[in-house]
Amino acid sequence: MNEQIAKIEEAIRAFKIGSSEDAEQFRLSFLSRKGQIPTLFEQFKQLPGEEKRLYGKTINALKQQAEDLYKEGLQSVQQKQQQSVDYTRSVKDLPFGNRHPLSVIRDEIIDIFARIGFDVSYGPEIEDDWHNFSALNFPEEHPARDMQDTFFVEKNPDFALRTHTSSVQVRVMENEKPPIRTISPGRVYRNEAISARSHCFFHQIEGLYIDKGVSFADLKQTILYFAEQFFGKSKIRMRPSYFPFTEPSAEVDVYWGLNNEVDYRLTKGTGWLEIMGCGMVDPAVLQASNIDPEVYSGFAFGMGVERIALNRYQIPDIRMLSENDMRFLKQF
Ligand code: DAH
Repeated sequence: MNEQIAKIEEAIRAFKIGSSEDAEQFRLSFLSRKGQIPTLFEQFKQLPGEEKRLYGKTINALKQQAEDLYKEGLQSVQQKQQQSVDYTRSVKDLPFGNRHPLSVIRDEIIDIFARIGFDVSYGPEIEDDWHNFSALNFPEEHPARDMQDTFFVEKNPDFALRTHTSSVQVRVMENEKPPIRTISPGRVYRNEAISARSHCFFHQIEGLYIDKGVSFADLKQTILYFAEQFFGKSKIRMRPSYFPFTEPSAEVDVYWGLNNEVDYRLTKGTGWLEIMGCGMVDPAVLQASNIDPEVYSGFAFGMGVERIALNRYQIPDIRMLSENDMRFLKQF
């Protein structure tokens, strides 16, 4: 037995742990269940009582020694590994993603309005009739409610995919007290044929301002500020229009100029580019959301994000904005 112990001890001392593979090899040959030391213990158990006394201490000391050497070896291997990592090396080229052009435009617009006190609000894309239509003063027989424009929920036609972000106006007015200044970006849906210029879903940005004494002059000045900040243009015009939820209503054009071929194409030779719809919030809409139209007034506006993107980046087909082809997206 003595001889066996001495042999193992020698082997342990001679063993150099230089790598994690070595450490594992050490563990397997000396410490694991079938290793030399547990085997020694098995033999030890067979010994008569007094011999047990003789060898017990020695074998235990051997085991301790092996465990210590194993731990030390493992530690020094790990330390060496850490020191050998070169933290200054540059990483492999990862295929980074890109901000989507629609997100870029949305965030720019949010920033511009944030500077004049507008916060950001969101609403659901599956919307009920009240928030998408009724509270916005759409008459019962209004064609926008028609099956041709709206995707209704088949099982419950009181719900539909929202056709505009104006629905968020209603939700904000129901939940907040004036003064209200909010921008509502989001995706909207229309049951329309898909082509290079129109899609069955797209994005809008809605704006709403409700307070005491808000006038059409405030609306015009706010839109002018936006046109200057976003398009870098300092001339706008407002053409009378109609929306059920605003009175009076207007379409806004920004003066783009006619300096080159693109300007001609973009503005169809007029120099003016239509950018949004807007108006003074109809008193009936305020009333529907429990805001007293005798005390408060406000304005609202809404614009399409895809349309801005197509113009700004001269993108020939709206479908490119939802295909997520990296060759296209990497250009922005
Ligand atoms: N909701 C309108 C649309 O989808 C856009 C719009 C027009 C929003 C006038 C407004 C507004 O808030 O005042 O075409």
